[in-house]
Amino acid sequence: MPPKVQATPTQAGAAANAAEGARPKVSRAKLGEMKKGGERIVMVTAYDYPFARLADAAGVDILLVGDTLGMVVLGFDSTLPVTMEHMVHHTQAVSRARPSGMIVGDMPFMSYQVTAEEAVRNAGRLVQEGGAEAVKLEGGERICAAVEAIASAGIPVMGHIGLTPQAVHQLGGYRVQGRDPAAAERLVRDAHALQESGCFALVLEAIPASVAQQITTTVRIPTIGIGAGPHCDGQVLVLHDLLGLFEEFVPKFVRRYADLAGSTRTALEAFADDVRSGRFPGKEHSYG
Ligand code: KIV
Repeated sequence: MPPKVQATPTQAGAAANAAEGARPKVSRAKLGEMKKGGERIVMVTAYDYPFARLADAAGVDILLVGDTLGMVVLGFDSTLPVTMEHMVHHTQAVSRARPSGMIVGDMPFMSYQVTAEEAVRNAGRLVQEGGAEAVKLEGGERICAAVEAIASAGIPVMGHIGLTPQAVHQLGGYRVQGRDPAAAERLVRDAHALQESGCFALVLEAIPASVAQQITTTVRIPTIGIGAGPHCDGQVLVLHDLLGLFEEFVPKFVRRYADLAGSTRTALEAFADDVRSGRFPGKEHSYG
């Protein structure tokens, strides 16, 4: 008899969720079918257990544990200080929510740029320790060796081209990419090179809608846009932007669906008033 293979916490959780009647686990095959069927893919970032549960309950297809966590959760002024330890820690929290949506762990700056071997080891940590089901890397042709090595190790890889925030210093700021014909052509080449290296999906960030359309219609794999117009196969936003929790700046491509910063301030001011005035706790909050 072959040895019994132990399910990871995420697999076990997904099986339990399926038994409870939750939707089936989103796989890369499902995402491919969605592209073919013209069904838009919904991706959102998640960095912790409660928001991962809420995103999953809302039916989100992909939960990205993005390295934006460095800015919107940890208070850094870019994604560059984010480490593997941060990413593993937050990916674990998201995977404890046992979502039906696919969990993608972002590979932080310097975790995949030095050698393909290091890239595989670090991608493996996000899967083995964090519970990620896929990883995401930023860059085009120059990272294809790392993509191939990670995909050969059996780990699904999502690419990310256009505005790649880990290259902010090289790009000279957070600017729209691919505006001139040569840069647009480079992006199309990058997209195809990533597909041929084994990526199962691509994030297109801050590029003209026409360039995103050209990529989307010429690659077989799904594209997920952020500031890349309406023609992508799916859309992603940073959770704290769409919920109005991150107020330091709001990129043009963000639509806010809530003002959680405002309602949080209002709630905390009400609590502070109640404590200071003696209105809290009431009899109903006290033990006899
Ligand atoms: O880290 C992140 O949140 C991302 C998204 C902006 C796609 O890469």
